[in-house]
Amino acid sequence: MTKLAIMGAMEEEIEPLLSYFDNIKITNYADNKYYEVNYNGLEIVIAYSKIGKVFASLTASTMIQKFGCDTLLFSGVAGGINPSLKIGDLIIADKLCQHDLDITAFGHPNGYVPGGKIFVETSNELREVAKKVAQENKLDVFEGIIATGDQFVHSKERKEFVQEKFNADALEMEGASVAVICDSLNIPFFILRAISDVADMDAGFDFDEFLKSSAKNSANFLIKIVEQL
Ligand code: ADE
Repeated sequence: MTKLAIMGAMEEEIEPLLSYFDNIKITNYADNKYYEVNYNGLEIVIAYSKIGKVFASLTASTMIQKFGCDTLLFSGVAGGINPSLKIGDLIIADKLCQHDLDITAFGHPNGYVPGGKIFVETSNELREVAKKVAQENKLDVFEGIIATGDQFVHSKERKEFVQEKFNADALEMEGASVAVICDSLNIPFFILRAISDVADMDAGFDFDEFLKSSAKNSANFLIKIVEQL
């Protein structure tokens, strides 16, 4: 039996999931809440990590190592880089990188540390399930590169840097850290985001305006995927 981890970073990102499921059991652990539910023959653990790579790593690792999850799905919002991505659009990551990981002083490329890799790939199988679900529901879903960093990007300069160095299509603050944890622990994983802003000067304003609606777009699509697992 699959034991599924479903993560978000913010409460708004998992709220639509918590209101979808019934009979939720809450466990407090490591200064966070883990919501357990049985659904459709699946055991599911849901949590929001809090923002950023460190909290996301802690939560992903806890869900796998303490709760025994064997598959991880992430749902949330992102800043768009690729101009074809508009607010509300869905993106699934084929691979992720850390745009703020920088030991270029020693001649290494951005996003790389010895023993690691610049890009971590998501599960091909989960991506295929998502694409099939998108097709069946006539939903447009973009597939591309997501860059992660511990900063809310709201400038043309940083956005261009991330685009140029990593060819990234969207950026956020947790995905690549979850990817590193899952890859290291051999856990198939999938990162889904809906665009809340386009990481420009207006990003802070747009994020506040569209966080809830975009988080809901992402969560609604994720639920359709869960139904196929
Ligand atoms: N998540 C959503 N929008 C973002 C942005 N502009 N920068 C970082 N993370 C984000």
